[in-house]
Amino acid sequence: MIELHNISNIGIGTWGIGGYFTSLPSNDNVSQINAMTHALNSGINYAETVFSYAGGEASKLLANAISLSHKKRDQLFITLSIYHWDTDTTEDVVKKTERFFSLYQSTYIDNLQFTLPLIIKLGFTKTRDLITSLVANKSIRYAGIINTNITGLKKFYTLIPDILRFQETCYNFEIRPKSVQKSILWSNQHNIRTISYQPLRRNRTAQRNWPILVELAKKYRKTQNQILINWQISQGFLPIIKSATISHIDENIDATSFTMDTSDIDKITAFRVPRYTYPKIDWHESRQGISLPMLPDMFDQDYKMKISHNKS
Ligand SMILES: NC(=O)c1ccc[n+]([C@@H]2O[C@H](COP(=O)([O-])OP(=O)(O)OC[C@H]3O[C@@H](n4cnc5c(N)ncnc54)[C@H](OP(=O)(O)O)[C@@H]3O)[C@@H](O)[C@H]2O)c1
Repeated sequence: MIELHNISNIGIGTWGIGGYFTSLPSNDNVSQINAMTHALNSGINYAETVFSYAGGEASKLLANAISLSHKKRDQLFITLSIYHWDTDTTEDVVKKTERFFSLYQSTYIDNLQFTLPLIIKLGFTKTRDLITSLVANKSIRYAGIINTNITGLKKFYTLIPDILRFQETCYNFEIRPKSVQKSILWSNQHNIRTISYQPLRRNRTAQRNWPILVELAKKYRKTQNQILINWQISQGFLPIIKSATISHIDENIDATSFTMDTSDIDKITAFRVPRYTYPKIDWHESRQGISLPMLPDMFDQDYKMKISHNKS
């Protein structure tokens, strides 16, 4: 089994594999399987799977890629993330773990992650009881929490301090709400690794050509996306990146092979999008505010609006 300190610097994300909310008949499954097989054979040993992605197709394609790769199950660290929109009870969670065992021909899940709204729906103590029983029968090794605020994080940690080892969140070059930063700092102090999704904001950050990224890409002879990934790693994050393009996968792996000067890392760490304020974040699906995963998607439009509003 992969120990926590042997997880690769970047992981495989699977949103867009096989389709999006539902599977796409026109999707190029073969290329996507080949790309993920390439990533695994090139040393990426962390992958996240979500049964609601592409109606289950994303998980199947990842399983295909694993079986075609040179890697055995115990040479990989696989996270199963469970979302509130397709899960209502602890029995539903157990069924998903069984589906994982059958699909990945495995007796265990390395990391079972829950969204905060799901934990609230199931109840904190019921979720704790479920997780401790899954750990006791060796069905799962660790647990994680997705898209949480600091209150949810602390409460969950108090219930399973020896098991909670991951929080998955969005904190990238442009999207840095103070509330997320707080959770990251707290996680760092409590042995919880931050998995960061949309680290490249789906290649949209690089397209904006922020001067500091252009400057550092030139200095290190790397692409802007490589600077972004390298910075994420310097912060102790585990960026998960979806890629179905072999040249991108190689580029992303190469982003883990150089070290930036501390002063350059500090410049990126200190960067904030000028004149940008974040909308209120809706952590509990209360429909008051914007959910965290929406922030990177609405950023370009929101920023344009705020800039023109500030000018007028
Ligand atoms: N917890 C949550 O709420 C949540 C939300 C969103 C995502 N996630 C997870 O996080 C994973 C990563 O996020 P994401 O896929 O949304 O965004 P991302 O990884 O930032 O970006 C993926 C996109 O960037 C492209 N790309 C990758 N490497 C590139 C490179 N070197 N140069 C140029 N383009 C590149 C990919 O295209 P190609 O395929 O052509 O390379 C793909 O279109 C997801 O797949 C999903 O597993 C979780």
